[in-house]
Amino acid sequence: MKYSEGSVTINVPASSKLTRKNDVFLNEHKKFDRDINIILLNSLGWKNKTYLDLMSASGIRALRIAKETKCFKKILMNDLKKTAFNNLKKNAEKNGVKAEFYNKDAHELLCTLDEGVDYVDVDPFGSSIYYVVEAVKKLSRGGILSITNTDTGALSGTFPKTCLRRYHSNSYLSEFYYESGIRILAKECINLASTYDVALVPVFAHATRHYFRIYFRKVKGAGKADALMKQINYVSYCKKCLDRVVGIKEVCNCNEKTILIGPLFTGNLFDKGLLDKMRKTGEYEDFFNKISEEAESVVPWFYTTNKLAKVYKITEPRMRDVNYPKSHINPKGFKTMKPVREVLESFKK
Ligand SMILES: C[S@@+](CC[C@H](N)C(=O)[O-])C[C@H]1O[C@@H](n2cnc3c(N)ncnc32)[C@H](O)[C@@H]1O
Ligand SMILES: [Zn+2]
Repeated sequence: MKYSEGSVTINVPASSKLTRKNDVFLNEHKKFDRDINIILLNSLGWKNKTYLDLMSASGIRALRIAKETKCFKKILMNDLKKTAFNNLKKNAEKNGVKAEFYNKDAHELLCTLDEGVDYVDVDPFGSSIYYVVEAVKKLSRGGILSITNTDTGALSGTFPKTCLRRYHSNSYLSEFYYESGIRILAKECINLASTYDVALVPVFAHATRHYFRIYFRKVKGAGKADALMKQINYVSYCKKCLDRVVGIKEVCNCNEKTILIGPLFTGNLFDKGLLDKMRKTGEYEDFFNKISEEAESVVPWFYTTNKLAKVYKITEPRMRDVNYPKSHINPKGFKTMKPVREVLESFKK
């Protein structure tokens, strides 16, 4: 099967689809994610760097990055699956991309590679958390780590026990479950890196369809790591009145016992300078407009018009009448630190 995306055309076995059972994994819906990846790289202004695609599958991401950015002098591609490995080599050749190819377990590759890299992409089935420490160690100072997680059910509250075991946080199915989920993931990565006096500073993130994607910059220094750790906290959430605060408040003003979500990262998931450059490309305008508003406000949750309407039995406010930053995650989501009472008041005006 022939597949074209961006400046690349690849061949993959006809069975190539979304599940791990297939010979070569290819998710056409992730074009958006790969487009964003390329916009981000082109906004860094990098030259002569080294890129490691830890789980390449068809190679579509690394090949597009090789052809559509000018950041890298060296590209390393890896996949444990033999069929994928053979296939990605052919795809690289077909697209005139020179790379080093590996057919190794990701852990083994990260532990045996005798050079540092400037960028590592971790895109496994399920959770990327198992690879974060080794990837961080392989990254040069100022390098970027990008991770994709598809275990959104654990992170967002469908499987809270799994979340507690895997991420040491309480997840909960609130109306902002994807926001708390991506922030629990960010928290765990930050904690893992801080053990080594490394600050993994989030520079960009998005929760799209059924996956979370976070980009971190590696910054050395205990002080930098401490500053990030200070932004890790709980969110106390009331499922009865929908009020929420950062920190531990066991009983809500309405007397209901709150739910503690987290610990999670409450800080900014975006580097504003980088975001401005990404936005200037003019691509995905609506998405970047929302993200830019989110980056200004730094609110670790969102309210939704439909949930407010349901709980308070009010007419659902129209999104165009909502004067708060909008969430890129939920089309009915908006972001404010105001307590629920004030939010409701503002809709009466
Ligand atoms: C979700 S796909 C990667 C998709 C690809 N990055 C893209 O953008 O199209 C995950 C890939 O990781 C490979 N994989 C799974 N476990 C691995 C491991 N331990 N080491 C290396 N590769 C692995 C699988 O064979 C599969 O091709
Ligand atoms: Zn309450």
